[in-house]
Amino acid sequence: MADYMDQLFKNVKKKGQPATPAPPPKKEEKKAPETKSKLEEKLAAITREAKPAAAAAPAAITLEDVRKQLSEIKKEGKVAPGPGKELEEKEPEDQKSETEKELDRSDKKEIDSYGNTKIYRLPNQPLLYYWTPVVRPGSSEKAIINTIKEVATRIISIAPYKIRDPEQRRNVYYQRILEIIKDSPELNIPKAKFEFYADAVVREMVGFGIIDSLIKDDQLEEIMVIGPNTPVYVFHRKYEMMITNIEFFTDGEIQDLINRIARQIGRRVDIASPLLDARLLDGSRVNATMPPATVQGSTLTIRKFREEPYSIIDLINSGTLDVHAAAFLWTCTEGMGVRPANILISGGTGSGKTTLLNVLASFIPDTDRVITIEDTAELNLPMRHWIRMEARPPGLEGTGELTMDILTKNSLRMRPDRVLVGEVRHDEAFTLFTAFNTGHDGSMGTVHANSPQETVIRVTNPPMNVPDVMLSGLNFIVVIHRLHDKKLGTIRRVTEIAEVTGALKGKPKTDTIFKWDPVPDMLKRTDEPMEYMITLQELSGYTRKQIEDEIDKRATFLTKLLRENVHEMRSVSRKMKDYLTMQKG
Ligand SMILES: Nc1ncnc2c1ncn2[C@@H]1O[C@H](COP(=O)(O)OP(=O)(O)OP(=O)(O)O)[C@@H](O)[C@H]1O
Ligand SMILES: [Mg+2]
Repeated sequence: MADYMDQLFKNVKKKGQPATPAPPPKKEEKKAPETKSKLEEKLAAITREAKPAAAAAPAAITLEDVRKQLSEIKKEGKVAPGPGKELEEKEPEDQKSETEKELDRSDKKEIDSYGNTKIYRLPNQPLLYYWTPVVRPGSSEKAIINTIKEVATRIISIAPYKIRDPEQRRNVYYQRILEIIKDSPELNIPKAKFEFYADAVVREMVGFGIIDSLIKDDQLEEIMVIGPNTPVYVFHRKYEMMITNIEFFTDGEIQDLINRIARQIGRRVDIASPLLDARLLDGSRVNATMPPATVQGSTLTIRKFREEPYSIIDLINSGTLDVHAAAFLWTCTEGMGVRPANILISGGTGSGKTTLLNVLASFIPDTDRVITIEDTAELNLPMRHWIRMEARPPGLEGTGELTMDILTKNSLRMRPDRVLVGEVRHDEAFTLFTAFNTGHDGSMGTVHANSPQETVIRVTNPPMNVPDVMLSGLNFIVVIHRLHDKKLGTIRRVTEIAEVTGALKGKPKTDTIFKWDPVPDMLKRTDEPMEYMITLQELSGYTRKQIEDEIDKRATFLTKLLRENVHEMRSVSRKMKDYLTMQKG
């Protein structure tokens, strides 16, 4: 094994030289001279290349490192034993977490299962239990996995970030690693274990190690690692907060994972800079902390990205709002072609603000130029004329910061039709309200607040400091809540749509237009007269009745999409735009 690896690395060392096939080691002569030369060819190929991509591969390691590690592995006798010998299989019992052992002993009741996942209820446990098989390689397996990883890092010349689609990325790596395993009889891996090792290496190189299966579960919204020797928690779409059988045994394991994630996006987390807030290549949001920022160990919070964004039909289907409120918001966002409304979406943490903003933004006509400004880019819009801006924290030297406000100000110099600010928290509020007041009609943002009144108070007080009079530019506040329903579990509801009035008279107030009634679980329209409707009447020449009729027609149209089960965001957005084109005739 060591001879063989030595040979490989000698070849790697001959950078820039033509490939010289190494003589096959004596021991292996009969066995696989051909497969070995394949491997050598690959090695030779990367030595010929200038290797820019290989240099960008994760974890640049030196040849010396690899050799040292290999000889160490060998010294410890952890390398695959001689030909013919079976790999030592470790009993997985000691690899189980305490929580899992507790689950084994308990009088559990399975309440759901899908794929490999099982959901249990445990007596006297407030949280449900999420169980998924955890592959924890034994120490001998780990040594082999590491060896394959080292070889793969050298041989595979595609940097993971070059393949954006995570599924494709995995497949490409899986195939390459399988080739390496097949081409390396020296590793002495029984054929039946090829896939086990290929899976394990992929999980560690481009996946998420032991939380990989959680990342792949579409039912999970959030994955929360809170430290070593304590279970990983997950937030499930249906069952909310759950405890899992997965546990990191050391802080080092968590830090390794954090560093791997950080490296993929060109960032670093360490004692000097122990916080990371970032977006993964697939759009998922990641926050990582390390000691000393978190006392009990490193943490990782992953908000998973939904590949298929919610459409208005999805939100209607899940009861977040009804067709009437949806048709109303559609009309306001589009503005009957004359005057789109400026809207703030308010709600608590994880209530669905960004999702709702995304849905409303999908109503924006294709003729408009849209600029979005976010802390971490989450919006996923169907239009082409869209510029995405993303804030950036200061670098290690404390320079280079791009605040939300700097970006929002800049966006106003880019001749936008619509400015959408992901989350309004500080000075950017003033800038967004400037956009509201300077003809960028149909601009929107989200605010952390629980009611229209609280939104007004928050916006007009520090740190946002928007003067009362500027509120005249804001038309509507849409409030969304995440609630717990005894039967349905977590539900999200638009609980109020309010119009902001009176700002020009120095007394901004909010008038409720729609209000959610929890008993029948319905959004009820109130009879409030609307300033916005008067503006629409004046600018469009339609009567109030005609506008209301149009909203009803749109509600009927949405009902039709619902019935036909058209719910994919792009198709819904297309059909809604086609509807408007037809209206114009
Ligand atoms: N109406 C909805 N129905 C079902 N799930 C939803 C709905 N809205 C949002 N979600 C899910 O809830 C999670 C949080 O949504 P979102 O990011 O939109 O919330 P937020 O209020 O913007 O959160 P934050 O406060 O962290 O910015 C996401 O996983 C999203 O897919
Ligand atoms: Mg958000």
